[in-house]
Amino acid sequence: VVVGSGSLALAVRSLVRTHAGRLLVVVSDARVARLYGRRFAESLARGGARSRLLTFPAGERRKTRETKSRLEDRLVREGAGRDTIVVALGGGVTGDLAGFLAATWHRGVPVVQIPTSLLAMVDAALGGKTAVDLPGGKNAVGAFHQPESVWADVRCLRTLPDRDYRAGLAEVVKTAAALDATLFGLLEARAAALRRRDERLLERIVARCLAIKGRVVAADERDSGPRAILNFGHTVAHALEGASGFRLRHGEAVAIGLVLEARVARARGAFPERDLGRLERLLVALGLPTSLPRAIAAGDVVRLARRDKKTRGGVVRYAVPARIGRPRTGPDPTEPLDVERDLAPLLA
Ligand SMILES: NC(=O)c1ccc[n+]([C@@H]2O[C@H](COP(=O)([O-])OP(=O)(O)OC[C@H]3O[C@@H](n4cnc5c(N)ncnc54)[C@H](O)[C@@H]3O)[C@@H](O)[C@H]2O)c1
Repeated sequence: VVVGSGSLALAVRSLVRTHAGRLLVVVSDARVARLYGRRFAESLARGGARSRLLTFPAGERRKTRETKSRLEDRLVREGAGRDTIVVALGGGVTGDLAGFLAATWHRGVPVVQIPTSLLAMVDAALGGKTAVDLPGGKNAVGAFHQPESVWADVRCLRTLPDRDYRAGLAEVVKTAAALDATLFGLLEARAAALRRRDERLLERIVARCLAIKGRVVAADERDSGPRAILNFGHTVAHALEGASGFRLRHGEAVAIGLVLEARVARARGAFPERDLGRLERLLVALGLPTSLPRAIAAGDVVRLARRDKKTRGGVVRYAVPARIGRPRTGPDPTEPLDVERDLAPLLA
């Protein structure tokens, strides 16, 4: 895992050196292809690599089986075989889609993750979860497929639209709130600099989030225990995303999900009132939403939350830390969530 300004150029050099003669398939959405993908693929070619750029239309609504099939058809036309390397250059949608493409192409070829959105840098690019959405289920079909390497160039964040940048900050807050009180304090102290995209601060924060995620994933790669703490906010967030018809960004849904899940836990005496206040204030300071937008029907959120795929034996579960930066002890950080009794009243 390499984090730093200018690491995109290092990634090119490393790929050319380590994969001479193999086909490097760079996958990007159309927007990232325009900004970085074409130049990236050209640099690979200039370095002597065989490379192709495959693109798809940007947005969560394209993280589908249909897009994956189209990319597979392209791989056939490009003569890609078992020695192909997939390079996911883009946000979390690209990482999940291209990662899943690599996981199943010829029963699995290597994937290199080059995240260009903040959300992908601090979360999606590392950990090996890859997937596409179905109409009724976020990330419903996918595979665990660990990246061969991850390259996070914070300079790419200069071109990220403000709304997407802020959405990425939600996953930073989640990581800190779940696992690192010191990081949470840093975010509180430097919220204004973070809004300004101070690059030195971003390098530090991205590196810290990746280190935390790497540690958690190494301890529980298949998400059967402690890794579930990284789902803080996500049980509610996935329902919110669905209920908004994917108009809400994933990170925006996570911000609201963090607050609602922490409020459920607080009502049960399982999360301190003071920490709930700190969480809400930090999210607001970072320009993130903390309550249900008016355009989203509470009934849809409840219906989708009930169907959440983390449902085990008919029980929806959610994961909230014991307090800021401190996960609950024990092998399973999740608790049952009674959607009607615990969540529905908070949405009214
Ligand atoms: N696999 C995991 O562990 C994991 C973890 C968290 C989230 N996710 C997934 O990540 C996805 C959300 O990721 P996202 O928010 O990055 O969405 P995204 O990939 O759609 O990117 C958001 C937008 O930003 C644009 N963009 C990306 N980088 C840019 C740059 N440098 N400059 C300009 N524009 C840029 C994209 O074209 C897109 O329009 C969701 O599908 C979510 O499920 C996966």
